[in-house]
Amino acid sequence: RFDRALRPRGLAEYIGQASVREQMEIFVSAARARGEALDHVLIFGPPGLGKTTLAHVIANEMQVGFRQTSGPVLERPGDLAALLTNLEPNDVLFIDEIHRLSPVVEEVLYPALEDYQIDIVIGEGPAARSIKLDLPPFTLVGATTRAGALTSPLRDRFGIAQRLEFYSHTDLASIVERSAAILEVSIDDSGAAEIARRARGTPRVANRLLRRVRDYAEVRADGRISHAVARQAMDMLKVDDNGFDIMDRKLLGALIEKFDGGPVGVESLAAAIGEARETIEDVIEPYLIQQGFMMRTPRGRLATQASYRHFGLPQPAPRAPAA
Ligand code: ADE
Repeated sequence: RFDRALRPRGLAEYIGQASVREQMEIFVSAARARGEALDHVLIFGPPGLGKTTLAHVIANEMQVGFRQTSGPVLERPGDLAALLTNLEPNDVLFIDEIHRLSPVVEEVLYPALEDYQIDIVIGEGPAARSIKLDLPPFTLVGATTRAGALTSPLRDRFGIAQRLEFYSHTDLASIVERSAAILEVSIDDSGAAEIARRARGTPRVANRLLRRVRDYAEVRADGRISHAVARQAMDMLKVDDNGFDIMDRKLLGALIEKFDGGPVGVESLAAAIGEARETIEDVIEPYLIQQGFMMRTPRGRLATQASYRHFGLPQPAPRAPAA
């Protein structure tokens, strides 16, 4: 992928997520000094915050090989066994969307994680036998947008769990400036700050906006990204002042206009805007909730006052307290 050029390769280049960085520096140094595989790492958080990037960084810092797959791709136990038996000592095996592993594949993973062993069945019917294979020590790095969707036996087998948080505007501005330097596009501080402010706390969004703003700057301006050019480009892209895109506005708009601000179940919201429930839960709403535009309550999703203000709508009278 084209994004690869923009990804940091080591922890020293990795911007933001200070606590994750500090912890991983210590765990990696200790494992390396002992000559051991790093303990298994679970990385969770919303899409675009750098889960895959962090997995690569871990392998680079450990100076070991990197293999990558994803939960839905591993259809049969043999698919996983083939990967595991081809690892070199202390390698990183990265499984993205690990919450989507099938139960039979997950079963193969348990002894692999715990004892670096797998049980494979050879043959069929009465001739079938199970044999144990030893694996080299390795590190599983699993990534998921929803830690809650992991079975507890799987979750319990990770010695390290890191939650990635939305990035601050300051960190995103540094990421935009770093990416602009790699892409060799000229940008000033206020241009970078404007892109950062509208990037939904997400480096992948910031880097995508940067590429589109660069296009705009090259065609409609002198190629340099100033504050004014950044603003004009993002207005054209329909990314608003809060960084909300069309999907964000559609969701909040439906919540307010079709459901009187809620509470409404996520299924009803999904039907109203024609999106999959999972897209709302994993991609759209985490940022809106984190920014205080929407709430998740036991009775459903609720618009906040900030949401009404965003659309310039009068705030409804306070509700009668629930009986
Ligand atoms: N690009 C994407 N995520 C990044 C990060 N956390 N630090 C630096 N560059 C990035």
